[in-house]
Amino acid sequence: MLSKFIFLFALLPAALSAPAADTSSSNVDLRSLASISKSNLKSLASKIPQNCQLTNITVPLNGQDGLSVPAGQVVSNVAVGRGIQNYTCSSGAYVSAGALANLFDMSCVFSMSSGFIEASQVSGLLPKMAFSALSFPDAGGLPIAMHHLFVLSGTPGSETRGAISPEFATNADKVIVSKVAAFNDPSNSSVNVPWLQLSALKDQGSLAKSVFRLNTVNGQPPASCVTEGEQLSVQYAAMYWFTR
Ligand SMILES: *[C@@H]1O[C@H](CO)[C@@H](O)[C@H](O)[C@H]1NC(C)=O
Ligand SMILES: *[C@@H]1O[C@H](CO)[C@@H](O)[C@H](O)[C@H]1NC(C)=O
Ligand SMILES: *[C@@H]1O[C@H](CO)[C@@H](O)[C@H](O)[C@H]1NC(C)=O
Repeated sequence: MLSKFIFLFALLPAALSAPAADTSSSNVDLRSLASISKSNLKSLASKIPQNCQLTNITVPLNGQDGLSVPAGQVVSNVAVGRGIQNYTCSSGAYVSAGALANLFDMSCVFSMSSGFIEASQVSGLLPKMAFSALSFPDAGGLPIAMHHLFVLSGTPGSETRGAISPEFATNADKVIVSKVAAFNDPSNSSVNVPWLQLSALKDQGSLAKSVFRLNTVNGQPPASCVTEGEQLSVQYAAMYWFTR
């Protein structure tokens, strides 16, 4: 396990100019949760490669009731999302009206910390870092791996004509999904949007079979509203896990 880490660490540009034993604050030690949390998203992202293999890493559902990875599916990608949840005021309450987010590839943080830090801890930390480092639509100069948006779903496979459906898209591929399960955020469900399990609609892209939105930070609207039809966007961050 240690040799795997050193091998991967040697790929880092920072490691080429500094010995692996260097513990200065400019280096992020991916074996240490404290070191990652002392870093910030921009410097962390600048020190890791992209698109690492996620062999043996499982979605950290933490036994959340109702969310489960369907049999046979394995993690294909993991990204931290930073975006907005949109709402429209309807009869005194804000109802969901889609979302927009930039997703940043974090696969190498998970693969390089694997064996040293629980994936659930990294999954809990990265959205907090993303929330404080960025404000949508600013991507802070980081490479955007994927866009999350909502599209009209009057298409084959959709349940409701004229409704909008969540989509995840890279430059090369996409998937349109529908919600199969939701779970209240365990830390503060009045502030943080629910954790979700989303499933690919038939014939609507091959990017993933399932998408999990976990470890949410903010995004919930105020409990009530007065102006009918008023639109509101609430900033949020979350970890997105993709399985195939
Ligand atoms: C994945 O787990 C298997 C079984 O424990 C192990 O043999 C293999 O080396 C692991 N692969 C990686 C990339 O860690
Ligand atoms: C969300 O609201 C923003 C304005 O705050 C708007 O630009 C965007 O198109 C909306 N997106 C969706 C999916 O409704
Ligand atoms: C959730 O956060 C809100 C706003 O910070 C706070 O008023 C409320 O007490 C929190 N609820 C829980 C269960 O921590």
